[in-house]
Amino acid sequence: MPVVAIIGAQWGDEGKGKVVDLLAQQAKMVVRFSGGDNAGHSVANPYGEFKLHLVPSGIFSPRVVCIIGNGVVINPVVLIDEIEQLNKRGVDTSRLFISDRAHLIMPYHILLDGLEEEARGGKALGTTRKGVGPAFTDKAARLGIRTGDLLDKEALLERLRFILDYKNVILTKIYGVSPLSLDEVYAQYCQYAGYLAPYIRETTTMIDEALNQGKLILLEGAQGALLDPDFGTYPYTTSSSPLAGGGCLGAGLSPTKIDRILGVFKAYCTRVGGGPMPTELKDETGDLIRERAHEYGTTTGRPRRCGWFDAVAARFSTRINGFTGAVVTRLDILDIMPRLKICVGYELDGKSIDYFPGSVAALARCQPVYEELPGWQVPTSDIRDYDQLPLQARQYISRLEELISCPVSLICVGPEREQAIKRTPIL
Ligand code: IMP
Repeated sequence: MPVVAIIGAQWGDEGKGKVVDLLAQQAKMVVRFSGGDNAGHSVANPYGEFKLHLVPSGIFSPRVVCIIGNGVVINPVVLIDEIEQLNKRGVDTSRLFISDRAHLIMPYHILLDGLEEEARGGKALGTTRKGVGPAFTDKAARLGIRTGDLLDKEALLERLRFILDYKNVILTKIYGVSPLSLDEVYAQYCQYAGYLAPYIRETTTMIDEALNQGKLILLEGAQGALLDPDFGTYPYTTSSSPLAGGGCLGAGLSPTKIDRILGVFKAYCTRVGGGPMPTELKDETGDLIRERAHEYGTTTGRPRRCGWFDAVAARFSTRINGFTGAVVTRLDILDIMPRLKICVGYELDGKSIDYFPGSVAALARCQPVYEELPGWQVPTSDIRDYDQLPLQARQYISRLEELISCPVSLICVGPEREQAIKRTPIL
């Protein structure tokens, strides 16, 4: 059985949670490998509706081992709350493990995320303000505190004292806000340590064991390829890599071990936060998509920007991830559209281009070149068989497939686990 990475192919919120929940029924292990609680993975299954921020979406499948990998930054308050909510609703979390190498989000990270955004003024990035960016900054700056540090209270105190002294200078001297108390932060984190200690493990050996047993392992991505700090719309990006390559680093797995890479695309585009989005619809069609699909951030509640499918961005995403298959989600949202548009190229400063520019300024000047297709205007939510989809819907899928050069294996037509059309084998 293979290792399959499930990757957001656009600007996040593509429906990765639903896909992981569905595929996890056949898996042995699910590993979340990037981001933090800036992510919000929606899952609807026989247990009910859930919005997971940190716990892998495989948690609902009995016997699946779920790992929060080293590449995730963890806010302990959010994680503890998530575990408790799951337990209250009858979901067993005894198969959940946390890498001892995963970094912690600390109170100063959350404070600084907000203060930095305020300081950017009109150039704010539109972060989720969950402290994720500052936590990854500290990881790179070698100023992080990891979950493994929670297991040695004396060493934790020493490290926290050193880091907090430095952070308090920034908080007081640069931002003019009150310093944080070492005693309070230390006491809080000792309490979290008590709760989380049983979950903290050296997880690469667990992953290796599952690999050696030939078990199916899913790597669960967070955010989307166009938010990647290198290849996304920098600086309007997140701070860890949502790409398939990030899956290796964020789980502790060799690139040679990943067998399949599944790109999850929404049937249209959405984006939340700042930065260019060439196909954004600032009109009633955009509003219609937003309301029909309830496109509001799972984590922040912010309205998402909605637009037509951008095949230029999608092709780029396929290339940098190496997708071996695609999932198209939320096809049913387009059921009411009389006509559909797909962006097949950009016009940049009077010239036609077919690539996704690296410069955010250039991307902001790109005008989408559209191809129009007829809509199908019949409900698709109850369809489970590809051949039963209306002809125009099949034509839309086939055209996406051609444009992104990747076979569409699965189509989602609603939030529930069973609202899916399996077209070709995925696993
Ligand atoms: P941060 O990751 O909170 O620093 O936010 C940086 C950018 O990534 C902002 O535009 C956020 O809206 C966006 N972002 C972060 N996480 C997600 C997500 O899970 N879905 C969609 N956008 C996200």
